Amino acid sequence: MPTGELVRLRAFDPSEAEALWRWNHDPDVMRWMNDGYPDSVAQVAKRMSEWPRNSYEKVVLAVETRAEGRLIGVAVLRDAEPETGNAELDVYIGEKDCWGSGYATDATRTMCRFGFDQMRLHRVTLWVVADNVAARRVYEKVGFVEEGRQRECFRRDGEWHDMIMMGLLESDLRD
Ligand SMILES: CC(C)(COP(=O)(O)OP(=O)(O)OC[C@H]1O[C@@H](n2cnc3c(N)ncnc32)[C@H](O)[C@@H]1OP(=O)(O)O)[C@@H](O)C(=O)NCCC(=O)NCCS
Repeated sequence: MPTGELVRLRAFDPSEAEALWRWNHDPDVMRWMNDGYPDSVAQVAKRMSEWPRNSYEKVVLAVETRAEGRLIGVAVLRDAEPETGNAELDVYIGEKDCWGSGYATDATRTMCRFGFDQMRLHRVTLWVVADNVAARRVYEKVGFVEEGRQRECFRRDGEWHDMIMMGLLESDLRD
């Protein structure tokens, strides 16, 4: 299991649907992410039971604290391309009482290291809303650099926000 200083990354179990449902319906957690349409815990559990096995195409991992084994978030590497060695990253910490403790930074670093070491990726790309300063700080600490900006492509509460594309090469990854 990919393990960092503070977190361990492991596969989800469908019995953990309630946590995913709660995070995905929490306006604070979803503030800068696409929240889609509401669904029920049962629908989330059904979807989870149908998730394909983790593979090169898509790796969905639960973030748990190393100390207590507490489930606190999600890390995903998706759309990996063997031709370019590029994959896209999504990370979030759903348990709000855990924010500000370094967990997202460690989870991001650990997932990227997994991508470079196990999947032989060449680079990792992510998109973040420009106003999501905490997330941008996390990615900068790990070594991501800004590579582009899409203007006004995220809408929240009637306001448009830019999105920033960030990229990380293996040589950029910081301990
Ligand atoms: C954004 C998020 C991933 C951060 O997780 P976290 O575990 O709190 O992150 P860390 O503790 O590793 O680091 C947070 C950093 O942001 C900084 N930060 C937090 N809030 C900030 C703010 N309002 N302005 C500036 N910096 C801020 C912290 O000080 C810390 O940096 P530091 O170590 O230099 O002090 C988490 O809050 C989250 O999942 N939010 C909801 C979903 C989301 O936005 N995900 C990202 C989608 S791209």
